[in-house]
Amino acid sequence: ATGLLLDARQRPLRDLRISVTDRCNFRCSYCMPKEVFGNDYPYLPHGDLLTFEEITRLAKVFLAHGVRKIRLTGGEPLLRKNIERLVEQLAALRTVDGQTPELTLTTNGSLLARKARALRDAGLQRVTVSLDALDDDVFQRMNDVGFPVRDVLHGIEVAQAVGLAPIKVNMVVKRGTNDDQIVPMARHFRGTGIVLRFIEYMDVGSSNGWCMDEVLPSADVLARLQQHFALVPLQPSAPGETAERWGYAGEHGQHDPALGEIGLISSVTQAFCRDCNRARLSTEGRLYLCLFAERGYDLRALLRGGADDAELASAIAAIWQGRHDRYSEIRATLPPETRRSARRIEMSYIGG
Ligand code: GTP
Ligand code: 5AD
Ligand code: SF4
Ligand code: SF4
Repeated sequence: ATGLLLDARQRPLRDLRISVTDRCNFRCSYCMPKEVFGNDYPYLPHGDLLTFEEITRLAKVFLAHGVRKIRLTGGEPLLRKNIERLVEQLAALRTVDGQTPELTLTTNGSLLARKARALRDAGLQRVTVSLDALDDDVFQRMNDVGFPVRDVLHGIEVAQAVGLAPIKVNMVVKRGTNDDQIVPMARHFRGTGIVLRFIEYMDVGSSNGWCMDEVLPSADVLARLQQHFALVPLQPSAPGETAERWGYAGEHGQHDPALGEIGLISSVTQAFCRDCNRARLSTEGRLYLCLFAERGYDLRALLRGGADDAELASAIAAIWQGRHDRYSEIRATLPPETRRSARRIEMSYIGG
């Protein structure tokens, strides 16, 4: 492979997000509501999961196509047994320019304090932790399993102490549920080196009962923050980035790096499909070209059917070259039936 693979909208393939489990120990209402993900929910049987060897083999082929960043997701990725062994295998791979790929992971933080050191030792570079509130009542209502804020904060501290930095914290904002936490969260993380990002609540999957009334547009989040803090816009740090960056200003009105920055992820009110360079590999080895896709391409069948690396590479190239997806840009023009399609994949299955 040459490393320059473009889709049908001229977008390169740069970011590979690998889901390692469809399970989670939280039941966030916007992702795995208890009514849908109950005790009898049919999670994938173990034999359906890609093994670490299979994941690593696929990752190697993706890297040869120009991928530079690999993110492990879930469900909750730290629930996958021996996940640090996978990290170790992935950290040994190289990009087409001979670099170590950027290796990161998105977690709910519940097991982070226990695992941070082993992950770092295995070659993980940083982590992104989901945390929707600082207030325990609000947070426990959102994770719906009574998980306390302080344990997540402790996980973040340990991760920072072992050097899994810069750490990002993702907060999904639901109007009327946790929007009163925007300013306290900002105040808490300002000046800590941790980048807090506010995410617009999205209509992913078909079980969260999404409606526009519960979306607080990023413009409103920014306006609320500006009542308390001086913020200045920052340049994107990479093309196709999900978050718009704002820096805390110091005394002279310029960004003060010591105070840090926040990010706004506005997939509902300001789609960022134009530069979307992300491919998603599901736990059972299906390749999804969009968070809102209705179908994935079965790479496991190729793997287990005995395809060699060249065959895998050309299959992946053909799939990416045929990619047109830009759901967030066309969301508003779609009929409600399409938007609510039950065939859409769940966030817990594909990992955000
Ligand atoms: P870094 O900036 O490298 O930390 O990663 P990231 O922003 O690509 O990944 P992260 O998992 O932190 O993404 C944050 C959130 O943005 C996700 O949980 C999703 O809610 C949303 N998001 C990420 N990628 C996409 C995407 O391709 N499309 C849409 N619509 N939303 C996305
Ligand atoms: N809208 C926006 N973000 C979501 N996440 C999960 N479900 C949604 C949704 N409906 C986020 C989580 C986490 C990441 C994996 O995805 O908060 O940060
Ligand atoms: Fe679990 Fe993350 Fe989904 Fe919450 S958002 S249920 S922590 S996978
Ligand atoms: Fe990429 Fe699909 Fe998200 Fe658009 S909606 S940014 S194409 S994943």
